[in-house]
Amino acid sequence: MTSDTAARAAGLPGVPVPAPVPSTHPDLAEVLVSEEALQAKIGELAAAVDADYAGREVLLVAVLKGAVMVMADLARRITVPTTLEFMAVSSYGSSTSSSGVVRILKDLDRSIEGRHVIVVEDIIDSGLTLSWLLRNLRSRHPASVEVVALLRKPEARSVNIEVRYVGFDIPSAFVVGYGLDFAERYRTLPFVGTLKPEVIAAG
Ligand code: IMP
Repeated sequence: MTSDTAARAAGLPGVPVPAPVPSTHPDLAEVLVSEEALQAKIGELAAAVDADYAGREVLLVAVLKGAVMVMADLARRITVPTTLEFMAVSSYGSSTSSSGVVRILKDLDRSIEGRHVIVVEDIIDSGLTLSWLLRNLRSRHPASVEVVALLRKPEARSVNIEVRYVGFDIPSAFVVGYGLDFAERYRTLPFVGTLKPEVIAAG
């Protein structure tokens, strides 16, 4: 691997999150990424996509449901011509970790052949789901496939996946909010935070 390839495999550097602040939400321990920080980062990611795809049309592909907030906000900040597609997959594993064995519940509505695809991810943890998805999408002969991930946990850095655009590198905690859930709850919070241990224990 050349140093350039290695750098691409590691992705552009995400930005470490600022110090967490206590949350006023009864179930949350700390706010890890504030609404303001999230929105500022989405603006930066959109500007990077605009610069890289000038003169081209992009197709954003998000996996339901976790990536819906990133998709909605990012898509509205990108100014190059953009279309949207959604997939739903079920990843076999426990409620807080995935196994990499994936089943498609809802496929793309149209062909992506010859298109410039950007996969929009909420969070990369083990990277197993994303690695499966990239293999699946590349088999459909798009012109290009890149990844934008709002959050990345440390484990993901050891997986050899090229992530072109990374928002924040976060610690290895289970987080909720801004699309991310625990038993389907907390997706609608406009910020990202950690749950209190007793809330996780109560399931
Ligand atoms: P991976 O295959 O381990 O990278 O996990 C991918 C998916 O698991 C993400 O797209 C999320 O939907 C979910 N996930 C991973 N970490 C978290 C978390 O901390 N909170 C909520 N969902 C998570």
